Amino acid sequence: MTATPDTVSPVAGKTIVLGVCGGIAAYKAVEVCRRLVDAGAHVVPVMTKGAEHFIGRTTLSALASEPVQSSLWDEESPIPHTRLGQSADLVLVAPATARLLGAYAHGLSTDLLTNVLIATRAPVMVCPAMHTEMWEHPSVQDNIALLRRRGVHVVEPESGRLAGGDSGKGRLAGPDSIVTAVESVLGPRDLEGRHVVVTAGGTREPIDAVRVIANRSSGKQGYAVAAEAVRRGARVTLVTTVELPLPHGVQPVCVETAAQMQRALDGLKDSADVIVMAAAVADFRPVACAPGKIKKNDGVPEVHLEPTPDILAGLGAAKRPGQILVGFAAETADLVANAQSKLERKNLDLIVANDVSQPGVGFQHDTNAVTFLRPGEALESHPLSDKRDVARALLDIVVGLLG
Ligand code: PMT
Repeated sequence: MTATPDTVSPVAGKTIVLGVCGGIAAYKAVEVCRRLVDAGAHVVPVMTKGAEHFIGRTTLSALASEPVQSSLWDEESPIPHTRLGQSADLVLVAPATARLLGAYAHGLSTDLLTNVLIATRAPVMVCPAMHTEMWEHPSVQDNIALLRRRGVHVVEPESGRLAGGDSGKGRLAGPDSIVTAVESVLGPRDLEGRHVVVTAGGTREPIDAVRVIANRSSGKQGYAVAAEAVRRGARVTLVTTVELPLPHGVQPVCVETAAQMQRALDGLKDSADVIVMAAAVADFRPVACAPGKIKKNDGVPEVHLEPTPDILAGLGAAKRPGQILVGFAAETADLVANAQSKLERKNLDLIVANDVSQPGVGFQHDTNAVTFLRPGEALESHPLSDKRDVARALLDIVVGLLG
């Protein structure tokens, strides 16, 4: 049995120039900065004059790896923009205002940040944030299209509440999405060109109009696999029964029951290079769903159950050559023997076994401890760690299997 080594964030050791523009969302840049530094990045903050109306230099300086810079004339060196541009592995602008996008698109170097953007050869990522009317204005959309054509990465704004009580599209993407997008640019792109389908959450099988048979799955493990697959360049479809913040770039398909999940996978399996079944699919469902609410006064109802389709076994039976099928096994006893039997019975390439009776393992936790089993291979144990680490270790194996 071998132990999987701890994985390191792809941003560790990388220099990221974090440009912050003047918008109400500037406060979220502080959280992005903190997360990147925690992940081991060297973050160099550059604020525009406008940004200083929204957050203090001291806040960002305290959390970043270097003090904030905002002027071409602060340093002894007369050319800070070329030094910053040349040393960067990535220039990230969050939030990016309409002014900044326009200046960058048209080569106008009006302050330190725009000078850095024009002086760098590193990848650039912009995270626009502005009111919906501004975001939808043709000039902004043209500038975004131009920047995309030049290879600039754009993390689209989200819909939601905006400054001044308005709501609509234009809100800065969340720190999670931005950090995932950064990791995807700086990390290995070993799933580029692959379609990865992941399932997450527990299915809910209706008894009547208001009651369901459910389980404790939160979807966290499946979402972690989806986020990691996006980071590594895959096109990712997430068939999910739960609504967690969606990792940047993931295409969701929302389902509730095992039958709906099976239909969704039927439509996706032909284009999928990899299918990861992290969902906890109910094994039984009521034979019939009462149309209304069963009344308590009518006595305790008899609920007749029937087995649900075994989705994974069906996928295993129809597996294409080269397609990689990954199952999970949630066990409370005889972990390896039970997982081994599922691996063989469902014709899987890999099964991820978790003993969900152990503290911190499986359902609802942020952590998991798993054993990887492959046909004819030695077991590989992954100690208790963040579900994102489990996802990375899982996809490392998948990448190896894809060859
Ligand atoms: O969602 P979290 O709170 O983060 O918890 C994570 C998890 C515990 C749900 C996850 O780590 C996990 O173990 N998922 C699989 C749960 C499960 O249903 O295990 P199982 O041993 O019953 O099923 C084996 C495999 O067959 C699974 O991949 C399951 O998706 C699949 N299956 C099961 C029954 C069925 N009718 N159809 C299926 O496809």
